[in-house]
Amino acid sequence: MVWCAWQWCGNRSVRWLGRLIFWGVVVEVEVPLSGGDVTEGVVRVGDTVRRPCGAHSSAVHGLLRHLERVGFDGAPRVLGVDGKGREVLSWVAGEAPGRPLPRYAVTREALVGVALLLRRYHEAVASYEVPEDARWDDQASRLDGPPELVGHCDVTPENVVFRGGRPVGLIDFDLARPTTRMYDVVTTLRHWAPIADPADRDWRLCAVDVGERLRVFCDAYGLDRDRRREVLPAARLRFERSYEAMRFRAEQGGAWARLWHKGAGHRIRRAQDWLERNWDELDARLA
Ligand SMILES: Nc1ncnc2c1ncn2[C@@H]1O[C@H](COP(=O)(O)OP(=O)(O)O)[C@@H](O)[C@H]1O
Ligand SMILES: [Mg+2]
Repeated sequence: MVWCAWQWCGNRSVRWLGRLIFWGVVVEVEVPLSGGDVTEGVVRVGDTVRRPCGAHSSAVHGLLRHLERVGFDGAPRVLGVDGKGREVLSWVAGEAPGRPLPRYAVTREALVGVALLLRRYHEAVASYEVPEDARWDDQASRLDGPPELVGHCDVTPENVVFRGGRPVGLIDFDLARPTTRMYDVVTTLRHWAPIADPADRDWRLCAVDVGERLRVFCDAYGLDRDRRREVLPAARLRFERSYEAMRFRAEQGGAWARLWHKGAGHRIRRAQDWLERNWDELDARLA
């Protein structure tokens, strides 16, 4: 009889997920990870994640290595490139929320945790001296203002790993690029406040008090009074920029075109309108 066993029984041996043992020989199995809906071919193999490399990957690896050097524990480690030319990253233990969002991802504690995690990331990345030849997926935009650091630029729920209901790690640095702290803050708020038309929000976030959540996030991140008055103008610029950036990406085809056809551009426009309609109230809450 062939002895065969899935080494998968809950958290105790989750690091063995994806490893099959035949006659004592470990065979690594690729488990597809589809949570992000953008990059095709992301898989988990044991304690690692394999993702296709792109022109920006070496810049991202430089960034992740810096984070490791300064002891930032909220990002995957770069472990190399595998035989199929894919980047090998460490698995960040926990769970990245999917849609519909689970209850733990919409709590005030989660919002505070994301703000603290982003702040810690910004502190860790601030000392990174970007190599001159670094090639990011998207270069800095003049709309962001002079770059202060390399932002994550895509802190969506799917890109935050939670453990025990607390945000502990950022993943998916594909859109990282030199930008301002404020740009990274408003990009995060777009998804977590969220700055979105109620019709486009996850059902658990439909009726939340966005003004209050903006304030809670800014308090936790540590934005002072003057800087928080910059949040709404930065969000206004960001919408303009992301509409154009997304349309450009969609024109190249692939996953971005799919997202565009599923209405991503319309959602940005509706969010812009919602922001303008609610500007005074949100501004008053931020002040
Ligand atoms: N290093 C990692 N640690 C833990 N989970 C990961 C890691 N990388 C990816 N994942 C999981 O796989 C999903 C898709 O990966 P991601 O890199 O975000 O791809 P995409 O570019 O499609 O958004 C994530 O939402 C998350 O659930
Ligand atoms: Mg992702």
